[in-house]
Amino acid sequence: MRTDTAPAISRHDYQPYPYRLPRVALQFDLDAECTRVHARFEVERDGGGLPPLVLNGQELSLVSVSIDGTQLDAGKYRLDDETLTLFPEAARFIVEIASECRPAQNSALMGLYVSGESLFTQCEAEGFRRITWFPDRPDVMSRYTVTLRGDKTAYPLLLSNGNLVAGSELENGRHEAVWEDPHPKPCYLFALVAGSFDCLERRIRTGAGRNALLQIYSDKGSRNKTEWALDCLHRSVQWDEQRFGLQLDLDRFMVVAARDFNMGAMENKGLNIFNSSYVLAEPDTATDASYHGIESVIGHEYFHNWTGNRVTCRDWFQLSLKEGLTVFRDQQFSADMMAHGLSEDAARSARAVKRIDDVTALRVAQFPEDAGPMAHPIRPESYQEIANFYTATVYEKGAEVIRMQHTLLGEEDFQAGIREYFRRHDGQAVTCDDFVDAMDSVYRARHPGKSLDVFRRWYSQAGTPRVHVTLQHDADQGLCSITLRQHCPPVGIEKLQSPPLEKPPLHIPFALGLLDAQGQALALRHEGQEHETVVLDLCAESQTWTFPDIAERPVASLLRDFSAPVIVEYDRDDAELALLARHDTDPFARWEAGQELASRQLLAMSQSGSAKQEDAILIETWRALLHDPALSDAYRARVLTLPATKALLEKTDPMDPLAVAQAREDLRARLGQALADSWLAIYQACAAAEPREYSPDAVSSGRRALKNLALAYLAAGRHPQAESLAQAQYESARNMTDRMGALSALVGQGDTPAATRALRHFYEQWQHDPLVVDRWFALQATACATRTDTVRALMLHPAFTLRNPNRARSLIFQFCMNNMLGVHRPEGYEFWAEQVLALDALNPEIAARLARAFDSWARYAPSNRDAVHSALQRIQQHEPLSRNVAEIVSKALN
Ligand code: ARG
Ligand code: ZN
Repeated sequence: MRTDTAPAISRHDYQPYPYRLPRVALQFDLDAECTRVHARFEVERDGGGLPPLVLNGQELSLVSVSIDGTQLDAGKYRLDDETLTLFPEAARFIVEIASECRPAQNSALMGLYVSGESLFTQCEAEGFRRITWFPDRPDVMSRYTVTLRGDKTAYPLLLSNGNLVAGSELENGRHEAVWEDPHPKPCYLFALVAGSFDCLERRIRTGAGRNALLQIYSDKGSRNKTEWALDCLHRSVQWDEQRFGLQLDLDRFMVVAARDFNMGAMENKGLNIFNSSYVLAEPDTATDASYHGIESVIGHEYFHNWTGNRVTCRDWFQLSLKEGLTVFRDQQFSADMMAHGLSEDAARSARAVKRIDDVTALRVAQFPEDAGPMAHPIRPESYQEIANFYTATVYEKGAEVIRMQHTLLGEEDFQAGIREYFRRHDGQAVTCDDFVDAMDSVYRARHPGKSLDVFRRWYSQAGTPRVHVTLQHDADQGLCSITLRQHCPPVGIEKLQSPPLEKPPLHIPFALGLLDAQGQALALRHEGQEHETVVLDLCAESQTWTFPDIAERPVASLLRDFSAPVIVEYDRDDAELALLARHDTDPFARWEAGQELASRQLLAMSQSGSAKQEDAILIETWRALLHDPALSDAYRARVLTLPATKALLEKTDPMDPLAVAQAREDLRARLGQALADSWLAIYQACAAAEPREYSPDAVSSGRRALKNLALAYLAAGRHPQAESLAQAQYESARNMTDRMGALSALVGQGDTPAATRALRHFYEQWQHDPLVVDRWFALQATACATRTDTVRALMLHPAFTLRNPNRARSLIFQFCMNNMLGVHRPEGYEFWAEQVLALDALNPEIAARLARAFDSWARYAPSNRDAVHSALQRIQQHEPLSRNVAEIVSKALN
């Protein structure tokens, strides 16, 4: 057993940095093999004493270091693996450090690295230390001047943060650009890009009357794929002005697409760097989902300019301060864009669709995380490697925690809270508490006697709370009372604590509606007013609310619009769920009821080995939904999609992934057959309505989603026309959504000649486009007939490489994380361990993500559990092992 895991860093150990660094000047002599960096910074001490000046650095070669112009001898500083320590003799001085780094050798893609022929940086969270020695922490903020020098042919464009203030020609075919960023920033927001790019740009005038230049840079030849991204950026600027009153504070806002990128994108001040998959789109190569993904990530990074950059994090434990808030903002942006221009009802439905998608993502990724070995509060208490904490919990649950504050305060007061937050903290590096304080000040002022004191516990408690509901009806008095009882079982390391950890109750805004037996909404009297939906403030372990004038026993519509990230426990029969699925006036709760009905069926099937179960209620409910003319296509597509296997597994103990995945396949086939005529009619109606001109708007993308869902059901049900419809759709498709929908229906039929032919054709046609080739790998990785040997064979394909994160994700991650039927076998787990180790040698951050594929292993049935256990041990025993993977594996084995 390894014992040499890195020490944990604790939230409570925070100490301010003892010096200020108001100005930084960086000079780069760029070269892919060896880049020389000259850093010069002013250092100032405010308090007494002259503590050592500790600078972080990784994989750098030190050339020289000087203080106030005098070069230091080796005895005058201390240099070890990850720090350079200087011993100041005055309260103000200037440090100059020359060092070298090796971009072409940097396969971790943190710091300065090569992608294609170009140079890029990624500094968040701790990548700047791979560029030069520096206090690499977010609470040290400086004004940067950056001089970039490089070969004019290789690097015709030299970009960094802020404004271009000078440029000149140098000797030997080199040139120079000088950039100045007027805004003080932490080093994690530093960026540079050098290379040859296309640029699409637009001059805009902001609401405040500022002229600004928006630019999207991408690989030569892809300018025509950046129009959508530029549109999204422009709309982001306008939306942040209109909804949040936040103005663009830059003359120039640049986005650059990189083929090799660890995450989605990065909000470097004025110079966002993006994974090309979140920039490039044209109808022929990008699906509706890609268009919407681009909109949300462009929005997300742009919104960081205020929530992240103008006000940043004091330390990395506060990551959710910027990420949770910014995800909330991008979700609101997308919802507003989806609803834009629609009638009131259609807009409500479009918002519900966005909510359903966000909640589905939360349940598939965050709920399991919160129940597993990596469970942590949205503000973690400790970490070994911060890169491991860019999690669904910090991001998505963090966004839910902001959303609950929005629910408690309402839009107007929430915006007042945001204004207060910026009034107090603009230009600072602050904590999550500072954010809640600003919101609380508004909340207390508007609601005397109330506060966010109990609410704050969301920041320190891990685990998904459970809310148990009981409904009592007194027919004589016409009273209905609802009792809510919350509890949050220990998770992850909490389980090891003795005495057991106390988890005090949280403040849970619980939205409730009541329907009569015909599904009509009842008016609820609450706090002196009548409502169709009331938001109950559950703050204690158990609370009861009583509603008058309820003549008959009502049907409860619970946690409307998913008002809190909790699990609801409520006993009710299938008939009640069916009624809600048909009639609930809250579109989210209505969807939820249908999902719950399907979940019950699936879980029963998974336990009985899919032996025939009584399914009449489910089939009739789905038939009704299929034909309900009041529902939008997008909404119907969500309602008629079976719950995700991962979400279902969370409801089982022990978990049997193969059985649940198989049950899902079987029920899909059953629904495909039982409703075949309806699917066919829907398919034909949607197909006939497809316009020539592609648009990713909510209505058209909803129609395509429903059409392709119908096709998938027909294929799953082995409808005699399924293959020919899919083939015809593949051949005539005028956009990637339809082409992929058809291909996936063909491949879903197994290794048929038609599937093989279409796959071959697809590759031949799109092999020049990396993002489309990623789709080709991903589709095969997740096909239900794919097994480990199929994946091994695909890895030998000339287009495959582990070095490109998108490619590794499209094949390896898709198989290990999204192909339950393929991977949950002894050879699947072995393959996984092997790939974690192979990736770890190249890119620890990416390897650590893959290492989390079977986080829930301790809850698996014994045979799966033992097989994952040995695979985990094999990883743990490997040397060397990155700190990233070591942390994940040691937690999993705890
Ligand atoms: N701040 C980026 C975002 O917008 C994520 C960057 C994380 N980078 C990393 N290498 N872990 O969400
Ligand atoms: Zn972010």
